[in-house]
Amino acid sequence: MSTQTSQPEAKVGALEPEKAIAEILISSARIQERVRELGAAISRDYQGKDLLMIGVLRGVIFFMADLLRAITIPVAMDFMAISHYGPSQRMRGVVRLIKDLEEPIEGRHVLFVEDIVDTGFTLGYILKILRTRQPASLEVCVLLDKPRLRLIDLDIKYKGFEIPDRFVVGYGLDYRQRYRNLPFIGVLDPQVYAAS
Ligand code: PRP
Repeated sequence: MSTQTSQPEAKVGALEPEKAIAEILISSARIQERVRELGAAISRDYQGKDLLMIGVLRGVIFFMADLLRAITIPVAMDFMAISHYGPSQRMRGVVRLIKDLEEPIEGRHVLFVEDIVDTGFTLGYILKILRTRQPASLEVCVLLDKPRLRLIDLDIKYKGFEIPDRFVVGYGLDYRQRYRNLPFIGVLDPQVYAAS
């Protein structure tokens, strides 16, 4: 579960999606349109280069899968997994790598892909690790950006959408591992977490 907002820990989100989603923020069609635009831009920019796209599990898999299929040049992919811990859910300053890459990245053009950037702690931590491995280049592609929550200065080359500070789920984003499979980005109804 992303930090997203300073929402408290709450009951497991077992409500049916039609009750749990207060509003659709970004429709499936709009997501797919934007993913195609990003794929076209990436294909243009990395023409003739050894492109390796890296994602961090788990939320990114939907975006990554669609983005890869919108790319028209040869591309490889790999994944990392991390766990968060810190003084509070909101200020999860400490990130631990629990699954490393299988591909070497030295001398390769790496595009790091994320579903959402909130505080930027996660991205900042992972970029620091990747830089030490000396890729030929290292850029970032993010589907959703919540700039208002940013605590770390980051350079994001490819961005899907800037969104307000609301608790969003769907298209990979979860609330306690639920709602990742929704095809749109929806705002979670506060009743889902308010009861605890
Ligand atoms: C989300 C997202 C980033 C992180 C962003 O992951 O995929 O990794 O939160 O938050 P930050 O900018 O405040 O560091 P999450 O912890 O929800 O895990 P998930 O990918 O398994 O859903």
